Amino acid sequence: MDTQELPDISGKTTVQALKMLCSMYPGKIIFTTSFSLEDQVVTHILCSNKLHVKIVTLDTGRLFEETYKVLARTRERYNVPIEIYFPDAEKVEKMVTQKGPFSFYESVENRIECCHIRKVIPLKRALLGQKIWITGLRSEQSNTRANIKPVEWDERYNMVKYNPIYDWSFEEVKNFITKHNIPYNVLHDRGYPSIGCAPCTRAVAPGEDIRSGRWWWENNSKKECGLHAR
Ligand code: ADX
Ligand code: SF4
Repeated sequence: MDTQELPDISGKTTVQALKMLCSMYPGKIIFTTSFSLEDQVVTHILCSNKLHVKIVTLDTGRLFEETYKVLARTRERYNVPIEIYFPDAEKVEKMVTQKGPFSFYESVENRIECCHIRKVIPLKRALLGQKIWITGLRSEQSNTRANIKPVEWDERYNMVKYNPIYDWSFEEVKNFITKHNIPYNVLHDRGYPSIGCAPCTRAVAPGEDIRSGRWWWENNSKKECGLHAR
């Protein structure tokens, strides 16, 4: 499949589109979850419709305890396998031995190196052999995500990305979570709208940008960890 062959989901509901993709690419569809509110919405849609999609999370080794708890509760609630991908132990050992456990605070290069080792390389491994990559990305999340389309070609990984809730508002996401009583990360109730690794995420004040608590010490406007080419 190349850029010319993006699946046509026009006129379909999310569930219809997912069903179509599952029948077009059986066993070749992956959903990556960080257990964010958005990802929990997608997990719920996939699991409550019994759609066969490989569900993967990247355990960087630096996640919040609360994130592991929502992982456990999600496994219990939906009774589906959630595959955990770890970073390469040797690469982490070398980086932390040479630069210490908080190298990411010292420079953008170090931060990108850590994200690359702990997230991007494991993601590449997870995506290998897959055809469709489902995410919980929303265009409202940041300027860099404003142009997200429901179906797009990911240049970096040479595959189709499907962002089923790309046009949902934060309110819609929260209402869906409440309506379906979906397990969510308790940190969301403590001022964390966007949650990544523990040392790189902090709470934000009401009204502040929802991603401003991510890598808050960096001034660059493109605060992405490299999972999503934008
Ligand atoms: S990030 O790039 O800033 O970390 P964000 O937390 O907004 O991303 O999540 C956007 C999408 O990236 C999620 O919907 C999910 O598909 C993927 N993602 C981010 N972090 C992880 C993770 N640790 N494991 C699996 N998928 C992730
Ligand atoms: Fe490393 Fe922080 Fe990136 Fe997590 S978010 S992989 S701890 S730099």
